[in-house]
Amino acid sequence: MGDKMNEKDDTESNGVDQTRRTFLKGAAASLGALLVGGVSVERFFVPKSRNQPVTSSYPKAIIVDTSGNPVTVSQIPSATTSSSNYPIMSFNYPLQDEPNILIRLHGIKIPGPGIIYSGRDSILALSGICQHLGCTVPLLDYHPHESIPFEAQLIGYTSANWPSYGLLYCKCHGSQYDPTKGADNLYNDGPAPSPANHSLPQVFLETDSNGYIYASGMNPVNAVIRGHLWQPDGAVHGKLVESENLSGGTELLFDSRLNMYKTVIVSSSNGPWPGSL
Ligand code: FES
Repeated sequence: MGDKMNEKDDTESNGVDQTRRTFLKGAAASLGALLVGGVSVERFFVPKSRNQPVTSSYPKAIIVDTSGNPVTVSQIPSATTSSSNYPIMSFNYPLQDEPNILIRLHGIKIPGPGIIYSGRDSILALSGICQHLGCTVPLLDYHPHESIPFEAQLIGYTSANWPSYGLLYCKCHGSQYDPTKGADNLYNDGPAPSPANHSLPQVFLETDSNGYIYASGMNPVNAVIRGHLWQPDGAVHGKLVESENLSGGTELLFDSRLNMYKTVIVSSSNGPWPGSL
């Protein structure tokens, strides 16, 4: 009886040992496979969707209102050096759920490509995703000269040092961006430096003889849109920026009636729109 028990114990013990050995061998083999080279480790940790754009190039997308009608240049309100409010105007690009802020400034020519000039006005679009930790519009928003956010006043801004054409200000941690500088918009000349290291990515805008407005690409001099996986160092990255900006998301809607991609612009209620201030 006692011998049979010992025999059984040995058998169970051997079974457990055998299972453990098999498991440890498997674990060692897996670890070995991971350690063979950096590529294996990267494949283990990096999502398959990385650098696999959902579309091959930046789409050309017409900006439409919530009824689906194209928005025209003349419908975009202007901000001046004496404006005390300005509506939030936001549209997604280059993928869905990627907000950008549309701004029209009167009396100044903003330098660079992808900006619409109309009379004495410049119309530009910058990412509505803060390049610091990714807070989005409306926490990141454009504030003209007479509309200094309370949070900016707390770090020392007054009407004497808030720039004449205002700033895009992020209420999360105080990053500041100067729309008059176009693509090179990171602002650090105020009483407190921006925690962000990069300018807001710029959306290229175009217009046509109807005055319709199109988003047609992203300025490659900027870093990738915050929230994408790869964060370059802010220098010129060209195609790499494009691939990353077009990965990990969903394409814009295609409008079969207009036969092109479209993006809907939405406006806040803190200013009249469409119309003028
Ligand atoms: S997320 Fe905008 S300042 Fe930190």
